[in-house]
Amino acid sequence: MDIKIKVQRFDSKINREPYFQTYDIAAEPNERILDCLNRIRWAQDGSLAYRMSCGHGVCGSDAMRINGICSLACQKLVKDCKGPDIVVEPLPNFVVIKDLIVNMEPFFARVNQVRPYLIAAAEAASKEFKQLPEDRKKLDGVIRCILCACCTGACPNVTANAKFLGPAPLVQAFRCIFDSRDSQHLERLKQVDHSDGAWGCDNLFKCTQVCPKEILVTKSINLIKQEIEKSLR
Ligand code: SF4
Ligand code: FES
Repeated sequence: MDIKIKVQRFDSKINREPYFQTYDIAAEPNERILDCLNRIRWAQDGSLAYRMSCGHGVCGSDAMRINGICSLACQKLVKDCKGPDIVVEPLPNFVVIKDLIVNMEPFFARVNQVRPYLIAAAEAASKEFKQLPEDRKKLDGVIRCILCACCTGACPNVTANAKFLGPAPLVQAFRCIFDSRDSQHLERLKQVDHSDGAWGCDNLFKCTQVCPKEILVTKSINLIKQEIEKSLR
């Protein structure tokens, strides 16, 4: 089938404003938007810029907005995009560097803010540190996060409050707060117990709707809030 892909173009070194460029290509219904972008770049326009790596929903690098929904280009099929044009834009809530490439530095700085790694008690270094299967099960959902930032791009609370930590860092916080081996439970709760942390989420569920790993992002944030009420009040 013949389709039109309308891509938002912008080069921060050249352009003052973004503009749209439409590409005509032939595509199979089961092809992915990433396949289409690759074909455009390889055969029509080598200047088109976007990130990709694994091509299989693992690295999280090709997050963008496709027909108004933050998605991974390697997971979105042509047949799932309603026409006549397929509109591809960079992730909202991020500064565009070039075309579909956004500056991810502030996002990863926020993730690092929550210390997204296990901080075990000192005695854990000297012996095997076991975790019960039921405790590990609590992390089953959030452990799938690939830090693609679709949730942050889709979040109206991030749009409204530039200081809000955002959904992905809170998913990382959840992963450590509810890890039975972590020694910083209360400190971690205190770190997100404010209006720019867990309480900055207004339960709008946009993050949950777009997460390509089907993580219950909003529910995870609400569980953090409940844990704050239980342990800090
Ligand atoms: Fe991506 Fe989902 Fe992780 Fe957000 S929670 S960064 S949407 S995988
Ligand atoms: Fe790696 Fe899409 S290219 S997740």
